[in-house]
Amino acid sequence: MSTPGEGPERRHAEHAASFTHHADEYDAVRPGYPPAAVDLLVPARAHDVLDLAAGTGKLTASLVARGLQVVAVEPAEGMREQLAARLPQVEVHAGTAERIPLPDASVDAVTVAQAWHWFDEPAAAAEVARVLRPGGTLGIVWNDRDEDVPWVAAYGTLLHEAAGPQLARGTHPTVGDGFTDVLRTDVRWEHALAPEDLVRLAGTRSYALVLPPDEREALLDRVRTLVTTHPDLAGLDRVPVPYVTRVYTARRR
Ligand SMILES: C[S@@+](CC[C@H](N)C(=O)[O-])C[C@H]1O[C@@H](n2cnc3c(N)ncnc32)[C@H](O)[C@@H]1O
Repeated sequence: MSTPGEGPERRHAEHAASFTHHADEYDAVRPGYPPAAVDLLVPARAHDVLDLAAGTGKLTASLVARGLQVVAVEPAEGMREQLAARLPQVEVHAGTAERIPLPDASVDAVTVAQAWHWFDEPAAAAEVARVLRPGGTLGIVWNDRDEDVPWVAAYGTLLHEAAGPQLARGTHPTVGDGFTDVLRTDVRWEHALAPEDLVRLAGTRSYALVLPPDEREALLDRVRTLVTTHPDLAGLDRVPVPYVTRVYTARRR
């Protein structure tokens, strides 16, 4: 049993806060989202889009590039600063999924990239339904490394992430009765990184973010040994990291 102050709420808060301090690393090495996934996330008729938990704007940038009118909501200040510097045309708000600082029925689509698992799902689903116009869509996306590839499985094991971050909590995000037409699509692609950037990528994972400094360095050394000596990777200048991007879409009733 957890003692007060050491339970899941505190760990959750630590992980969420840790994103603020690692926004630069996060932005430099985390993968973006392939165009085929972005096509699925936002319907062609959408105009006003909320990118919820927008982080440094990795998905937001793809939405802006499509000519959409994008509002971003993000709780972590460091993430918001990077987003605002990168995409000055985007209206950025401090806020959370459980309390979205937008009026009722104000957007055609809400996107959530690599973040749904951080939310209180029922509260977030209700808030997303509130800010969507009738018939509007929720698009949830995240990247799982393809662990059918042996070196990728070994990398995930080092990070205690053998299953994808959301799959570990159950196969499907729960969006509740406010939504219909729930669809899941997988998009396969590769993101090429230098070997040292694979080590930096490991450092941005939530497990590594909250370790004490000496344990974190020891973990990153083990990752460095893997990516420089694994027979499938040794000698490569650029490592193609295989991803399966999971896309969920649902329509507000
Ligand atoms: C892994 S990052 C993803 C950021 C961005 N969507 C992307 O694709 O790069 C997860 C983000 O969720 C945010 N977050 C965590 N808990 C949240 C909550 N309850 N409501 C809204 N955002 C939250 C974090 O601050 C962080 O920016």
